[in-house]
Amino acid sequence: MKKTIFAALDGNNPDRNIIEEAGVIIKNGGLVAFPTETVYGLGGDALQSASSRKIYAAKGRPSDNPLIVHICRWEDMERIVVRIPAAAVKLADAFWPGPLTMILEKSDAVPAETTGGLSTVAVRMPAHPAALALIAAAGGYVAAPSANTSGRPSPTRAEHVREDMDGRIDMIVDGGGTEIGLESTIVDLTGNVPVILRPGFITKEMIEETLQTAVEADRSLPAAGQAPKAPGMKYRHYAPRGEMTVVSGNREAVTRTIVRLAAEKRRVGEKVGIICTDETRSFYDADCVASAGGGTDAETVARHLYEILRSFDSRQVTCIYSEAFSGEGIGQAVMNRLLKAAGHHILEVS
Ligand code: TXA
Ligand code: MG
Repeated sequence: MKKTIFAALDGNNPDRNIIEEAGVIIKNGGLVAFPTETVYGLGGDALQSASSRKIYAAKGRPSDNPLIVHICRWEDMERIVVRIPAAAVKLADAFWPGPLTMILEKSDAVPAETTGGLSTVAVRMPAHPAALALIAAAGGYVAAPSANTSGRPSPTRAEHVREDMDGRIDMIVDGGGTEIGLESTIVDLTGNVPVILRPGFITKEMIEETLQTAVEADRSLPAAGQAPKAPGMKYRHYAPRGEMTVVSGNREAVTRTIVRLAAEKRRVGEKVGIICTDETRSFYDADCVASAGGGTDAETVARHLYEILRSFDSRQVTCIYSEAFSGEGIGQAVMNRLLKAAGHHILEVS
């Protein structure tokens, strides 16, 4: 057990002393969890192989699942990639700092441990003042996966990081709740056509508009034995402890079905959690009923989703039903994470 230092700061105006302390820890090979605009990251020096090994150990994550390298200045790209394609320049102009990760060919400066043995590297410049200051203080290159134990929902508050990482890492920087609540969009720029490996706040349409070319979406989970493009996709990610089902269809049929299934499960002793919207909350009676926000407000739903899943875990919910959400804008990312959490268990009703 390590003694984990906790330090709270104002995300918009981060305390210099805390940032310096965190930067020194990372430079010396330690691990610091910090807020970004998407979710909390678990940061280590991306250019030290020993730091990346520690990150995998702290998360209990398989070491073939590569890490995202976070930078704070555009010029710093040169050291870690061999070539900067024109598409990367355009996307960075449009969306950095921000919730977009680009996959590029890596240079020798990036150790194989950081990229899970791949010849490519994921790079992101986050839009969060504390994250940017911390990356600068740490030497410019911070490898940071989401700061959760592997298989649990990503942390959107420092308390979530504490649940998973207390005693396992050197420091947790608390900058309050994260703004977006879902991980960054990942776009692979190493092939002829850009491919979205993970949907997020920056949508396919936004990327197509910026690049003026068609972009592919890699929606399929890879079949067994097949090498996955984003190795993270092969693991059952974002998984709550309860068995989860997403119910999709018209609102009346969805609420009626969930009411019936929840009652059946409760009769046989299951502890039931329901994820719904402000508009449908009053229909339900279960052990835990959580509205993620207004049914047409996907941004609010995105911000609350992981917190709700974690609250169900801590209340030992054994069975979860979630309404499906509209797939517009960040709604696509919401549905992607919901379906993953449910192990793609979806019930279509009418
Ligand atoms: O918003 C985010 O991206 C957060 C914050 C902390 O920045 N980070 C994050 O990291 O979500 P992580 O490690 O939880 O997810 C990274 C994903 C994994 O699915 C991984 O397989 C994929 O990115 N990835 C990383 N490097 C890759 C590469 N070279 N090629 C393909 N996929 C890669
Ligand atoms: Mg993650």
